[in-house]
Amino acid sequence: NGGLADPKNLRVKLVLLGDSGVGKSCIVLRFVRGQFDPTSKVTVGASFLSQTIALQDSTTVKFEIWDTAGQERYAALAPLYYRGAAVAVVVYDITSPESFAKAQYWVKELQKHGSPDIVMALVGNKADLHEMREVPVQDGIDYAEKNGMFFIETSAKTADNINQLFEEIAKRLP
Ligand code: GTP
Ligand code: MG
Repeated sequence: NGGLADPKNLRVKLVLLGDSGVGKSCIVLRFVRGQFDPTSKVTVGASFLSQTIALQDSTTVKFEIWDTAGQERYAALAPLYYRGAAVAVVVYDITSPESFAKAQYWVKELQKHGSPDIVMALVGNKADLHEMREVPVQDGIDYAEKNGMFFIETSAKTADNINQLFEEIAKRLP
């Protein structure tokens, strides 16, 4: 067909990991429903949602999203969700150095126990709270680069970079 790529329909298992309160559920709600809930409740266990996007070459990507619970008591469940995941999105809150440390813990865990060819993204969320920033952008960039991850800062509140996050992931699928 003249070298044009064939349009494909991909199905991708994606897991979100990160400390409680960093905004994982809000990122998913923004991406899937275009909404923001300032009174978002902590996730219990995990929740599942899916969303399909179309790329420019008319390939469609259906993300099957496992939004895990960040509270410590659920940590032992995480492998159930990241096992077999093609994509892991590790989220921290740019106002919380503790959450950045926790993100690094999850990256190491994924490197040890995730699929060898997993696509990983590092996300600094709550970018709208820049006056309260405690994690410099450069720290996120450097850590992601060292670990072969895609990096982006987002705001589920303002929707900044939320669609871009998932589009960039789609472009990096094998
Ligand atoms: P667990 O389910 O316990 O793991 O937490 P979570 O990571 O899913 O956090 P959740 O999405 O429930 O968000 C926690 C709080 O942060 C809520 O009060 C949200 O309104 C707020 N929040 C989430 N994203 C943003 C953001 O981009 N900006 C601001 N300002 N607040 C946010
Ligand atoms: Mg949640």
